[in-house]
Amino acid sequence: MTNVLLVNDLVKHFPAGDGRVVHAVDGVSLELDRGETLSLVGESGCGKSTLGKTIMQLHAPTSGSVMVEGREITRLPKRALRTLRRDLQMVFQDPFASLNPRVTVGRALEEPLIVQNQGARKERRERVAWLLEKVGLPADAAGRHPHEFSGGQRQRIGIARALALNPKVIICDEPVSALDVSVRAQVLNLLADLKEEFGLAYLFISHDLSVVEYVSDRVAVMYLGRIVEVARREDLWARPLHPYTRALLDAAPVADPSRRRARRPRLAGEVPSPTNPPSGCRFRTRCPIAIPRCAEEVPHLTDARDRHMVACHRAFEAGTFEGGALAERALAGAPATPRPGGAVASSPRSIATARL
Ligand SMILES: Nc1ncnc2c1ncn2[C@@H]1O[C@H](COP(=O)(O)OP(=O)(O)OP(=O)(O)O)[C@@H](O)[C@H]1O
Ligand code: SF4
Ligand SMILES: [Mg+2]
Repeated sequence: MTNVLLVNDLVKHFPAGDGRVVHAVDGVSLELDRGETLSLVGESGCGKSTLGKTIMQLHAPTSGSVMVEGREITRLPKRALRTLRRDLQMVFQDPFASLNPRVTVGRALEEPLIVQNQGARKERRERVAWLLEKVGLPADAAGRHPHEFSGGQRQRIGIARALALNPKVIICDEPVSALDVSVRAQVLNLLADLKEEFGLAYLFISHDLSVVEYVSDRVAVMYLGRIVEVARREDLWARPLHPYTRALLDAAPVADPSRRRARRPRLAGEVPSPTNPPSGCRFRTRCPIAIPRCAEEVPHLTDARDRHMVACHRAFEAGTFEGGALAERALAGAPATPRPGGAVASSPRSIATARL
C-alpha cells in the first residue's frame, strides 16, 4: 500500500434552514501517496476547506470514508480518534487565529504533546526547542507570545505545532495566502524541506495557481463540492481535459510571456448555489460544450490515461484527449461539434474572470 490517506465518497452537508441543505462536499474520493503533495484548487466556496476539515474529522462527515494508513477514522470513538489524529495534522491560513494570544509559543507547541501523553516535561521542552529550530525560529521564541511575531513567523509556529506529533499527512489550507509575497517563498521552501526530511504528505489547498504549480506533485480540481479532474501537475498544465480546468488555467496570471496561454474567452457566469446545485454535471450551467445528457447524468471521474482522471461526458469523444481539444475550440469561440441527439447548449458569451 503506497497511499497514506484514502478518502472514499466523502459527503459533508450543512443544514441551511428551511429544510435546505448546503452540499459543500458531495462524494469526493481521493488518495494521497506517502511523501506526495496533492493540491486542491477551485473557486471560492467550492468546498476546499470543508473537505480538509471533514478529512480531519473537525466536521463530522455526513457519509463516506477516510482511511489513514489503512485505518478507518470516521467512526472511531473520541479517544481512539485522538490517538490516530497524531498522523493527520492541519495548518491554517491564519495562524494567529489558531494560536491563543495569552499562551506562550513554547506552551502552544507543548500542548499537543501533553494531550497525547508524549514524554516527561524535560523531554517535551527539548522537543519544543527542536521544533523551533526545525522551522527556523530562535530558541527564545518559546517564551514569547504570538503577537510578538510577524505573519511569516507565526505561520512557522503553526507549522511547528502541526509537526509536533510526527504526522504522516499535513493538510495545509491556504498556508501562504495571508502572507506578504516576500515571505511566501520562504514558507513554501520550509514546507518543501520538511516534506523531504520527514517524508510528509501534503494535501495543499490553494486558490493561487502559481503556488500550486510550484509545490504540487498532483493537482485535484474541485467544482461545487465535487472533484472534476485529477492529474499530475505537468500533465494538467499541458493537457487539461475538463472545460473548467481549462478556464481556470486560462484565467491564471502567468509572469513569463513565453508560457502565456492563447487568450481565450474566460469562464462565464457565477457558481450556482451549493444549496441547489444543477442536476447531472454541476458545471453544465457554465460549460461551453454542454449537451442535454449533461443535465441528466452525473459524470464520474474516469481514468483517461496514467492516473489522469476526468469527470466529463465529452472528455473521451473521438479518442483520448480529444475532449480537451473540443473544449479548447469551444472556449476559443469556434462551434463545438454537436453530437447526434444533442446540440451544444451554450457558447461563450459574457466573460467574467474566474473568481478563485
Ligand atoms: N459551518 C458551515 N455551516 C454552513 N455552511 C458552511 C459551513 N462551512 C462552509 N459552509 C458552506 O460550504 C460551502 C463551501 O465552503 P468552503 O469554506 O469549504 O469553501 P472554500 O472552497 O474553502 O472557499 P474559500 O476559497 O473562499 O476558502 C460554502 O457554500 C460555505 O458557505
Ligand atoms: S460537457 Fe457536460 S459533462 Fe462535460 S463539463 Fe461540460 S457540462 Fe459537464
Ligand atoms: Mg477555504
